[in-house]
Amino acid sequence: MPTAENYTPGYTQSASDFMARRSAQTHAAFLLPHLRSSSRLLDCGCGPGSVTCDFARLLPSGQVVGVDRETSQVERARSHAAGLRLTNVKFEVGSIYELPFPDASFDIVFAHAVFEHLASPAVALAEVSRVLVPGGLVALRSPDWGGFIVAPDTPGLQSALRRYIAIQTANGGDVHVGRKFPGLLRASGFASPSFSATYECYPSPPLIGEYLALRLVSAGALAEAEALREWSRHPDAIFAQAWCEILGNRNA
Ligand SMILES: C[S@@+](CC[C@H](N)C(=O)[O-])C[C@H]1O[C@@H](n2cnc3c(N)ncnc32)[C@H](O)[C@@H]1O
Repeated sequence: MPTAENYTPGYTQSASDFMARRSAQTHAAFLLPHLRSSSRLLDCGCGPGSVTCDFARLLPSGQVVGVDRETSQVERARSHAAGLRLTNVKFEVGSIYELPFPDASFDIVFAHAVFEHLASPAVALAEVSRVLVPGGLVALRSPDWGGFIVAPDTPGLQSALRRYIAIQTANGGDVHVGRKFPGLLRASGFASPSFSATYECYPSPPLIGEYLALRLVSAGALAEAEALREWSRHPDAIFAQAWCEILGNRNA
């Protein structure tokens, strides 16, 4: 069983809205060349489902399933899919540690912005492997805080970022999981790993600044939250987030 973990971002409307701006084109480009129109794809930790629904549009004769441990996110994702009149996607509540699907149900398993919150990534990968067909594709994407470029270095910025990292680590997460993807896949028996990394540059620093600041406020780190907000209002503020990506095949 996994070690105890808490999901750092929480499920406020603003946190969920922050995720819902994502699309398959902007956040899963590394996987798009590997989609086949009839693929059966599972999106683990699908959140509000914006990326999941994009996959459904891209796989007109395929089947897409989103799973998330949080009911409010699954309900939001269902309502998003209904609004788009998609008929080849469904959403279910469930944990990546105990996926509610039979063995060998999917050709592709995707997890975006999930593994950095997991205390037991190897346990999760074993479960991902179980639901993949032999030869099936796993696709993971997570940030690695060691690669972020955040400037200018305003007063309190570095201690605010360090505090955020400490909170996520105390919650059982790993802000450096991205660089560990190759080793994790190898240890879990996946073949042909292909690692890449990309940057997401936030066009509006207050968007990411406020997202992180609200997490700091929830943890009682008020001075650090204010330092982040002050940084985000600086006219030269930039936040470039490093995302690590990996593809690998379940051994046949
Ligand atoms: C940062 S959000 C990302 C949502 C979506 N994948 C995206 O990128 O827009 C992470 C999601 O993973 C879910 N999650 C975290 N731990 C999980 C677990 N053990 N099993 C299933 N879902 C989990 C959370 O509930 C949350 O909705």
